[in-house]
Amino acid sequence: MLTHELADEELKVIRPLVEELAARHRSVEEADFLDNIGTYAQELPRPLRAFLNMYRLTEPSGVCLISGYPVDDAKIGKTPSHWRVKDELSSTAEEEVFLHLCGALLGDAIAWSHQRDGLVCQDLVPIEGHESKMLGSGSEITLVWHTEDARYSYRGDYIGLMCLRNPDAVPTTYASIDDVRLTPDQVEVLFEPRFLFRPDPSHPSDKEGENASVLFGDPRSPYVRFDPYCMDRPETEEARSAMDSLIRAIDENLRSVALQPGDCLFIDNYKAVHGRSSFKARFDGTDRWLKRINIARDLRKSRAVRSSSTSRVVL
Ligand SMILES: [Fe+2]
Repeated sequence: MLTHELADEELKVIRPLVEELAARHRSVEEADFLDNIGTYAQELPRPLRAFLNMYRLTEPSGVCLISGYPVDDAKIGKTPSHWRVKDELSSTAEEEVFLHLCGALLGDAIAWSHQRDGLVCQDLVPIEGHESKMLGSGSEITLVWHTEDARYSYRGDYIGLMCLRNPDAVPTTYASIDDVRLTPDQVEVLFEPRFLFRPDPSHPSDKEGENASVLFGDPRSPYVRFDPYCMDRPETEEARSAMDSLIRAIDENLRSVALQPGDCLFIDNYKAVHGRSSFKARFDGTDRWLKRINIARDLRKSRAVRSSSTSRVVL
């Protein structure tokens, strides 16, 4: 995995910047914050900017990790019982700002109007009653690997996850399409738009399915869009067989990382699938707690379904 460990000299720049921005803005959901985050991100230390720029431009890996950001476990308070439970002023404002600053070097954060009240920065916490749901708020069943929001052509190019707490070292899983070996015939079939994608459980289920290819871009180094859990079985044996080969190849190449507090993981949603292992939640304020943002490289692609050029909410 591509990793950048923050050096002390970098933290000497990052910490005052993050404190200043958290004090200036009441929330990272504020339009004024989101309008200016691209400017603020230019004040991050050059080694960190260079790392993320290289990750974005040269696509060397399906995931990258930025580690070493200090999280004060007492200051962030208890893991919320639900993503909707929020204080007027966030106890994790500085961490949210840091995740946004890094994300802004890859693109612009987006949200879905129909998902999690249209929040851009979301809390990933286990919710009591969701234990056996195939959702970010589930816990006791494995969150099977997937492309984020695979059904939607306006899905993010990157998912940014920042770990605040992970006491049981619950693994986040991922596999990069670059590590998958397929035959030229299988690649050809997977490039054809004959696979039906349905909304995943985090989106309204009344949306129609969308036919699309599983692989796209350059056949020698393809991008991937794949979520077998929310796809129909193809009608032809040829397509079923290609799909099953890709499922097997991803399973064989699935890796995991147990995120530590302060770790920021950026998953390239075109190059890697991701998931989460199952775990036993305690629901006592000490559970695993991550922040998540979705990043689009080109906001204009979704302009037709956003209310203004600066709006981050995809309708
Ligand atoms: Fe996901």
